[in-house]
Amino acid sequence: MRPNPSLEPLRSGVALSPVGHQPADAEIYSLEFFELQLLFAAKVADLTGLPLAETVGSHTNIYVRLAMGPRLDGANPAWLEYVAALAHVRDRAALTYEVHLQRARLPAGPQAAASAGCFSYAPLGPNRVRLHFHPGLQRSDSPLSLVNQHRRRQELTALLSKIVLLGPDIHVVGASWLYNLNSYRRLFPQRYLDSLQPIEPPYQRLPLWGQFLHRDRSVRTVAAQRFRTRLAQTAKLAELGSCFPLPVLSAAVPAAWLIP
Ligand SMILES: CC(C)(COP(=O)(O)OP(=O)(O)OC[C@H]1O[C@@H](n2cnc3c(N)ncnc32)[C@H](O)[C@@H]1OP(=O)(O)O)[C@@H](O)C(=O)NCCC(=O)NCCS
Repeated sequence: MRPNPSLEPLRSGVALSPVGHQPADAEIYSLEFFELQLLFAAKVADLTGLPLAETVGSHTNIYVRLAMGPRLDGANPAWLEYVAALAHVRDRAALTYEVHLQRARLPAGPQAAASAGCFSYAPLGPNRVRLHFHPGLQRSDSPLSLVNQHRRRQELTALLSKIVLLGPDIHVVGASWLYNLNSYRRLFPQRYLDSLQPIEPPYQRLPLWGQFLHRDRSVRTVAAQRFRTRLAQTAKLAELGSCFPLPVLSAAVPAAWLIP
C-alpha cells in the first residue's frame, strides 16, 4: 500500500501490525464510519469551544473502535499519540482509518463473559449484566432477517438460560438503537419491550453509532445523510442528540422476563 503523506506523524509508534495485511476475520469498519464520527466531534468542538482532541474522545466511538480500551482513558499513550497526530493531518478520517487497520487484530469493544451466536453479555455490576448484539462476520443475509429470526431467538434463550443461573436477582440491562427496529423487537417478549425508554445518547458507544452501519460495517447512506443534514442545521449543544435518526432505548429487567 502506498504511504499516505498525511499519516506520517503516526508512523513512530501506534502501529501494531502492517497495514494491508488483515486477518480474514478482522472486523474492519469503513473510513466513512470514522468520517461521520469526526464530523460530529468537530461540531461538538465548535459549539463548546473544547479542543477536537477532547471531543473525539468524549463524543465518538473512536476510542473503542481503535481498540484503545473499553472506556476512555485520556492518559493512554497510544491514544495521546493518535490525537496528537490528528491535530496535524489534512485528512483526519484517513488517519483514523489507518490506525484502525493497524490495530484491527486487538480486541475492541465490550469483553463478553459468554456469547451465543449474535448475542452476548458482559457483567455490569452486582446482579446486573449488559446484553449485546453483534452481527458477526456473516455477510450473505441480515442477522435480523425473518429467515434468521428463529435462530436469533434460540441464541437469546440459550444465553438467558446461562444468565439466570448467576443468581435469583440477576437483571439484564439492554440499551441500543436496535430496539427501534421491528426486526429486532420481534425477538423479545412484550413485557420487556414495554419497559424500554429513550436515554441520553451514549456518544462513546456502538449502541448509538451502530445505526449508521450495514452488517459489513459500511455506512448506511440514507441514515448518514439525514444525520449530516441535521448536524449542519444545528446551532445548539442541547440539540445535538436529536441529530441521530434513532434514539437509544434502554431497560433493566429481571432476566427471567426475557425468557419466552
Ligand atoms: C444490526 C445490523 C447488523 C443491521 O445491518 P444489516 O443486516 O445490514 O441490515 P439490513 O439493511 O439488512 O436491515 C435489516 C432490517 O433492519 C432495518 N434497519 C437496519 N438498520 C436500520 C436503520 N439504521 N434505520 C432503520 N431501519 C434499519 C431494515 O430496514 C431491515 O428491516 P426489515 O427486515 O423490516 O426490512 C447493523 O446495523 C450492524 O452491524 N450494526 C452494528 C452493531 C450494533 O449496532 N450493535 C448494537 C450494540 S447493542
